[in-house]
This record gives sequence, C-alpha cells and structure tokens, in this order.
Amino acid sequence: MTSDSFPNSYQHVSVLFRESVDILSPEAGSILVDCTLGGGGHTALMLELVGPTGRVVAFDRDIIAIDNAKVRFSKDISSGRLILIHSPFGELSSQLKKLDLIGRVSGVLADIGVSSHHLDIAARGFSFMNDGPLDMRMDQSQGESAAEFLASATEQDIADVIFKFGEEPKSRFIAKLICERRDTSPFKTTKQLADLIASKVFWKEASRKHPATRTFQALRVYVNNELGELKSLLNSAPSVLRIGGVLAIITFHSLEDRLTKVSMLTLTGKTKRQSLPRDIPLTSADIDRLSESVAEVIKPFPQMPTENEVRSNPRARSAKLRAIRLTMECPIIV
Ligand SMILES: C[S@@+](CC[C@H](N)C(=O)[O-])C[C@H]1O[C@@H](n2cnc3c(N)ncnc32)[C@H](O)[C@@H]1O
Repeated sequence: MTSDSFPNSYQHVSVLFRESVDILSPEAGSILVDCTLGGGGHTALMLELVGPTGRVVAFDRDIIAIDNAKVRFSKDISSGRLILIHSPFGELSSQLKKLDLIGRVSGVLADIGVSSHHLDIAARGFSFMNDGPLDMRMDQSQGESAAEFLASATEQDIADVIFKFGEEPKSRFIAKLICERRDTSPFKTTKQLADLIASKVFWKEASRKHPATRTFQALRVYVNNELGELKSLLNSAPSVLRIGGVLAIITFHSLEDRLTKVSMLTLTGKTKRQSLPRDIPLTSADIDRLSESVAEVIKPFPQMPTENEVRSNPRARSAKLRAIRLTMECPIIV
C-alpha cells in the first residue's frame, strides 16, 4: 500500500498537544526528536518553537505517515529544519549517530501506539469497528500480519500473546475458539475474528467494551513488537540527550505505562531492584547498569488530558504523559 491510496488522509488529533511539547522546554535553535510523527501535529509545534535555526528529527515506521509529512512539511525538509526517518524508534540511537546528534538533543517525545488513521482506515486492519484485512502492521512492508500469526501459531502461543499483551482473563478460551475455527475457515478479516469472539464470549452490550477489545490490543502489540520497541527507546533515549535534555513519553495502556514508569524511576535512582514488578522486560544487566541516578523526574505524577480534551477527543482518555530530565551524561544501554 502506498500513500497514494490515501492522499492527505493521515488524520490524527494530537493528544496532550501543547503539554507534551512544552514539557521539553524547547528553545529557539535547539534540536528536538519526535519519535512518532503520525499526522505531524507535535512535529509542527516543535518546528514552530525551535524557530528558523532549530531542527527537528521525526521518526515513523509507517511509510504513509512519512509520505504525508513529505508533502505537508516540504519547505522545512528542503531547508534542512526537518529530517524524516522511516524507521522504528527502537533504532533511535543508531539513526541519530548517523546524523552526528548523539548527546546534542534537547528533547525527545514519543506519543506511542496507533494513530486515528490506523483505526479509521479499514484497510490497515486494526479495527473491529471497520471491517478490513486482519493485518495490524504499522509497517506493512515487513513482518508477520495478525492473520498470518493466527494461521500458524500454536494454541498455547496464541493464548500467551492474548494474556500477556491484552491482559485478557479469557485468553485460553479465546485461543481455543480461534484454533477450532481456523481449521475450517482461516481468519482473513477483522470482522471474522471480532464476530467469533462476540458470539462465544459472554458480554453485556451495555458495558460499551466489545469483548474482542483486549484480543485486538494483544495482537497489535505483538505484531508490532510494541513493548520491545518501547524498551529500546527507554534504554537509548538518555544517550542522545544533552545534559538538561528531556525525555517525554505518552502511553495509552497499562503495559506501556508500567514499563515507562519503572524505567524512568530507575533512571532517577528511585526504584530499587526488589520493588520492580516481575513482568517488566528489564534484564538484571539493565538494572545493574541503571543503578546510578542520571535523571530527575519532572512531574511526580503522570499528566492526563483535561476533561475538555477528552470530551472533544475521546481517544485521548487513557493517555498518560511522563517525563524526566537528564542530569548527567548517560551511555547507551542495550
Ligand atoms: C499516536 S500516533 C502519533 C501522532 C502524532 N504525535 C501527531 O501529533 O499526529 C503514533 C504514530 O507512531 C508510529 N509508531 C508507533 N510505534 C512506532 C515505532 N516503534 N517506531 C516508529 N513509529 C512508530 C505510528 O505509525 C503512528 O503513526
């Protein structure tokens, strides 16, 4: 699929728009990184605040977001103020090394997860509300789609993914349903999967939460290796920042938020090894290397959207913004 399929259609309302960029304390002439370009809302504000002598580097693994931004920001790209990188943000430090920007960045922002474009365009295969091919890859040029995973994985692996990344208590039952059904009719579309779950898992329609919600989240997180990407970002972002630089992350579900919180507290020296939750994918080596405090917390509690923001953009409702400021040079932790 190319961006020509959706001309100018990368629609997304930026969450915590002003708050998440202001927290980076952007100064004229500084260098900022937007790890999640999406529809370009945060990138546009960064460009405005760093002014004509500043620079912004923006990542997205979705070529459609990149192609859309090439048109929207053509002047900033030709003047060298904006550099677009089509790559996962887990490669932050290696990509910034190529640009000779290690230790020179004043702020890194990641507004993680999927965009409204992903959820609204049926062909991207993320949504059970809009029927489309069961894909769910942000970068459709590589990796396994959700349909391919469900066609070939064992029942145990499917159950584990649904439990681990969707926190779905009925993961085993749903995995069994999936495996029984795929033998006669392989899953091709999002609706086939959503309808199967809705027909067999007890749910109250009044609860507003579709019974396939957790399974869809789990498949999406798994197919895009979202927690692995976030972990790489949290490990490498401190090394690209200058002293005083800020790392800000917006998360949308508890798995991402827990990983971000623990990693940030560890960087600030506020988490002891014994108090780390067991399900956080940090190795002992990571924790040992993070035992020194190299950062300070900017806000002790995460910032949430205001009621007004949630009213005008309900997708913002679960957003949490956390940020830390680097207080000493930090080597790359991989
Ligand atoms: C919530 S949207 C960002 C919206 C953006 N802040 C704005 O103002 O329009 C998330 C974007 O990040 C991208 N993304 C998610 N995970 C990524 C990763 N690991 N590497 C690079 N891009 C990623 C998605 O493709 C999507 O376009």
